[in-house]
Amino acid sequence: GDVRLWGGRFADGPAEALAKLSASVHFDWRLAPYDLAGSRAHARALHKAGLLTTDELQRMTAGLDRLERDVADGSFTGTVADEDVHTALERGLLERLGPDLGGKLRAGRSRNDQVATLFRMYLRDHARLIGGLVADLEEALIGLAEAHPGTAMPGRTHLQHAQPVLFAHHVLAHVQALGRDAERLRQWDERTAVSPYGSGALAGSSLGLDPKAVAADLGFEHGSAANSIDGTASRDFVAEFAFITAMIGIDVSRIAEEIILWATKEFSFITLHDAFSTGSSIMPQKKNPDIAELARGKSGRLIGNLTGLLATLKALPLAYNRDLQEDKEPVFDSCDTLEVLLPAFTGMIATLTVNRERMEELAPAGFSLATDIAEWLVKQGVPFRVAHEVAGECVKVCEAAGIELDELTDEQFAAISPHLEPEVRSVLNVPGALASRDGRGGTAPARVAEQLAELKADLAVQ
Ligand code: ARG
Repeated sequence: GDVRLWGGRFADGPAEALAKLSASVHFDWRLAPYDLAGSRAHARALHKAGLLTTDELQRMTAGLDRLERDVADGSFTGTVADEDVHTALERGLLERLGPDLGGKLRAGRSRNDQVATLFRMYLRDHARLIGGLVADLEEALIGLAEAHPGTAMPGRTHLQHAQPVLFAHHVLAHVQALGRDAERLRQWDERTAVSPYGSGALAGSSLGLDPKAVAADLGFEHGSAANSIDGTASRDFVAEFAFITAMIGIDVSRIAEEIILWATKEFSFITLHDAFSTGSSIMPQKKNPDIAELARGKSGRLIGNLTGLLATLKALPLAYNRDLQEDKEPVFDSCDTLEVLLPAFTGMIATLTVNRERMEELAPAGFSLATDIAEWLVKQGVPFRVAHEVAGECVKVCEAAGIELDELTDEQFAAISPHLEPEVRSVLNVPGALASRDGRGGTAPARVAEQLAELKADLAVQ
């Protein structure tokens, strides 16, 4: 029979081409458990308003429970003819309870407030899930930093050797970024804890329902929508979720890019575990960092989901418009993408091995201790402008002679500047350079250990 929710004023059923275009059940079916939870809460609201008897509420709830089991075991599914998940589940309820009781549930609600509510519930659950996966990655990175407390590496700006840093310091920089992403998810969750149920199609309901009670019932800690038009029309919560997931993808892609570089012959900083690398179908020697490459690639897809969604929302008049049906697939895809990507990426990080000798050999290369000469001179009372010139001159002499800074003789130092006494050599070594950067946030081992402890404590309380 005709399962449409809106057949009354129409003489004809929908054209097949319309039905095909209109259908969303193939992607919104994943909202079914939330739709059923919403229906149970709505039934209680109808009962409280005197629109369902206690007996009717009990039978309605039992019918919804039965339908939920049938959905869970796959014996009931939506079809194209159902249009969307809400319509499909209404059909399921009608089939189980008959039209007299089954037909009472729709009073006082619209698919517009329903879908806005369910979508929030779904995304809140996945925000927590993704937050947990981000925390797992943070933990793996912290483990990597902890396993290499004293290892130095070349710190870079513009991808050029800049100053030596601790490997752990570098790794923890990524943890800081991921920690902010996880915090964004928690703050988003706070903001999204408001239920649109009770907003109806846009104007609210005349049936004396209690939206606040429904909100509490569905786990929305901050009550119900203050404005029913906003409740049904706003999707900034979706856009913000898409931004946060894109940002996670971008932050992971920055780690990924480094992993890819570090695993090259030229860098030889790390080796990936066999279980988290792939081979080539033609070149037998190949070991490829595919997880990192997929992470880099998928960040593009996450950005696309955000920009596509923003384009859908731009200039949409209030309140609900069918355009809004386009809001779900992008962020469902963002959830699916991160939920598959993050565990693989975390496994790759947790199992890679570090080539300490190689990193430390390169740490002072490229005259990366030149700043230490300049800062040593400043401590001798030389103005930084002059000190910078003098240190630059040292680099010039070394470059011409094909030697490193610590290979300059006393005479060469003295010829460059009378301020360059032989004691300058005390800062021309990596451990000294690292230890000297001991202000908060600096690369000195004690500071990095402090940062590591703070990050571990933060992660433990979440
Ligand atoms: N499937 C729609 C969506 O995802 C919800 C239904 C609202 N449809 C409507 N004609 N008012 O946005």
